[in-house]
Amino acid sequence: MRALKEISSLVLLVCCGLTCHLSAQNQSPCCKSIEKSACVQALPVYADVNQPIEARVEDALARMTLEEKVALCHAQSKFSSTGVPRLGIPEVWHSDGPHGVREEIEWDSWSPAGWTNDSITAFPALTCLAATFNPRLSMAYGISVGEEARYRKKNVLLGPGVNIYRTPFNGRNFEYLGEDPFLASRMVVPYIKGVQSNGVATCVKHFALNNQEEDRMHIDVEVSDRALHEIYLPAFKAAVQQGGAWSIMGSYNKYKGQHGCHNEWLLKRILKEEWGFDGAVVSDWGGTHDTKEAALNGLDIEMGTYTNGLSTGRAFAYDDYYLANPFLQLLKSGEIPVSVVDDKARRVLRLIFRTSLAPNRPLGRTVCEDHSRVARQIATEGMVLLKNDQSILPLSVKAGQRIAVIGENAVRSLTKGGGSSELKPKYEVAPLVAMKAAFGAKNILFSYGYSSGRPLYDKVEKAPYDADSLLQAAVKTASQADVIVLVGGLNKNNSQDCEGGDRTEFGLPFGQEALIPALAALNKPLVVVLMSGNAVAMPWLKDAGAVLQAWYTGSEAGNALVDILTGAVNPSGKLPFTFPKRLEDNAAHSFGALSYPGDNVKQQYMEDILVGYRWHDTKRIAPQFPFGFGLSYTSFELGQVTASAPSYQAEDVIRLTLTLSNTGQRDGAEVVQVYASQRKPSVSRPVKELKAFQKVFLKAGERKTVTLDLKASDLAFYDEAAKAWKLENDTYTLQVGTSSNPSKNKVDVTINAASK
Ligand code: BGC
Repeated sequence: MRALKEISSLVLLVCCGLTCHLSAQNQSPCCKSIEKSACVQALPVYADVNQPIEARVEDALARMTLEEKVALCHAQSKFSSTGVPRLGIPEVWHSDGPHGVREEIEWDSWSPAGWTNDSITAFPALTCLAATFNPRLSMAYGISVGEEARYRKKNVLLGPGVNIYRTPFNGRNFEYLGEDPFLASRMVVPYIKGVQSNGVATCVKHFALNNQEEDRMHIDVEVSDRALHEIYLPAFKAAVQQGGAWSIMGSYNKYKGQHGCHNEWLLKRILKEEWGFDGAVVSDWGGTHDTKEAALNGLDIEMGTYTNGLSTGRAFAYDDYYLANPFLQLLKSGEIPVSVVDDKARRVLRLIFRTSLAPNRPLGRTVCEDHSRVARQIATEGMVLLKNDQSILPLSVKAGQRIAVIGENAVRSLTKGGGSSELKPKYEVAPLVAMKAAFGAKNILFSYGYSSGRPLYDKVEKAPYDADSLLQAAVKTASQADVIVLVGGLNKNNSQDCEGGDRTEFGLPFGQEALIPALAALNKPLVVVLMSGNAVAMPWLKDAGAVLQAWYTGSEAGNALVDILTGAVNPSGKLPFTFPKRLEDNAAHSFGALSYPGDNVKQQYMEDILVGYRWHDTKRIAPQFPFGFGLSYTSFELGQVTASAPSYQAEDVIRLTLTLSNTGQRDGAEVVQVYASQRKPSVSRPVKELKAFQKVFLKAGERKTVTLDLKASDLAFYDEAAKAWKLENDTYTLQVGTSSNPSKNKVDVTINAASK
């Protein structure tokens, strides 16, 4: 009925070479007599890019039928949801995320669609971005990947992910920004702004408590309010309130017995009511399980349910989705008020008006020199030098000397696999290729050393290699070289760094734990390059002369690695999570199975707020490598830190000042980090927490004055009784260093009138 009225009140006129809609009252008797300007003015409000978004949203909503509103709230294909075709409002195209734009997927299956024009730049994994400790690079990342999404005509990029690194077993840690809520918050905001400057929405995921893949579809996470607010929510809150994210993805797991995609506490109370989120909540694919709960608890777009893949069901079942016909029935019967669908439709329309129907959208672009440069810079700035005995690195290879490159990751694509973040890059420079280009092909020897996939065939022995013969072959190759570079780590296979399951062993897989000592026994300089998104056990650490944490770095992986190995770029990455010595030293694991991975039904976050370095510091458990740690080829010296005042009020900014000098021979960058602790808190608090950081570039011999600002209110803790953040009048110590290791460089400040 509404639709008929709508059509009768609109007359389509074609005039002055333009198509426009005029309301019946404004209709001119003679089309030809209508001036061009009159035509343009007659655009309905929703179609007029010069009108404010909210006016456009309300105008569109007022024209829509109930069926059209419901249609906005669920998928129409694997990666798209409906617009309002009758009004010319386009559909919404979603794409993974977060390290590049995923290849096109078939309409109703998970298979690749087989396009030949959908390859992209693969950017470094988000762990690498976090390790740069450089928010400016996060902005560059966002702008670049957003441009590629725009070029590929996507409205929503499914990322970034900001679930906190709680266990080194989580198969998806590589997609996230590390263990610290402050670091993750600082890094996520520019990424979002960068992507969205292209008129492409980010979809920040997975909200919330999706900190493991094991049992992810149903595990019920029990966590204290304090840990929720202090550890697991801040990055999402920053994404919404500072980043202005236009959409957010619910998580698969449960919290308080309800799935993340229709969770009253997370979506309705916290995200929408408390934080004032005005964007759209998108379900994770197959994460919706109930119409009423989804409708009433804040889900706006249901994706991927009832289709083959994440759950079962018939093909082309989109009308059966929880937020499709079943929702429509409940609206028609009055069991769910129309205001509920109006709210959802508003949010989806807002998403569309912010993206596909936004004025002055940039065109976007893909696979270009600028994007390769950004990818390479992030990759090099994110690599973390963990050990460098006798300055093995940068490599100084003399004429005639040879390098043995050992390891499958030197030749394997690491953009393949891993789950939904898998990419189809236009190019991917493998480490071996880049090493040959840098050092001369004849100076590079190669041997697999280990294999994670199909057995490799030994042409000499005419038999498949096994782990032992691969190791022997590698040792033989390495014995003919002057320097050994092992390029190993994990990969994107199941049970490694991969969605849908967790790792099952803390040690390096595929025989690498035996390979490293065997190579070391040759008594040649040995560099271990780890490509992974997680910490691994390092019983072999003493055997390696140098260790480089090199993450997954996408298209520019090999070039970036060579930049660091040759010293063309001085490493400046810092660990975004702690490397424990033993798995049981990790907080989540130390409490046994109910803490991780849970009993299949529920799990309890027993370590509470003591995640990562907060646990190691407070419990005095020495890590293998601490959070925030990373070496350089040069050396730095920090001057004594001073504070802008001895005492502050809650609204004040605390400014710290110190000098930083590059005392070595090479240009380089250091990350100055500020950790806070409270002298006499009324509740137990971690020994220290990151509250500010700054990456500073200095030429060899250069000295700079560094200022770091932190808000006094950032020293607060979450008071469970008051259900609010509380800043206590007390003395706070602000420790400054270049990692989370204890530092004597500190200053005390007091907070007064905190209640103000
Ligand atoms: C993942 C999401 C992803 C979605 C679409 C889900 O299985 O958890 O992160 O965006 O699939 O591929």
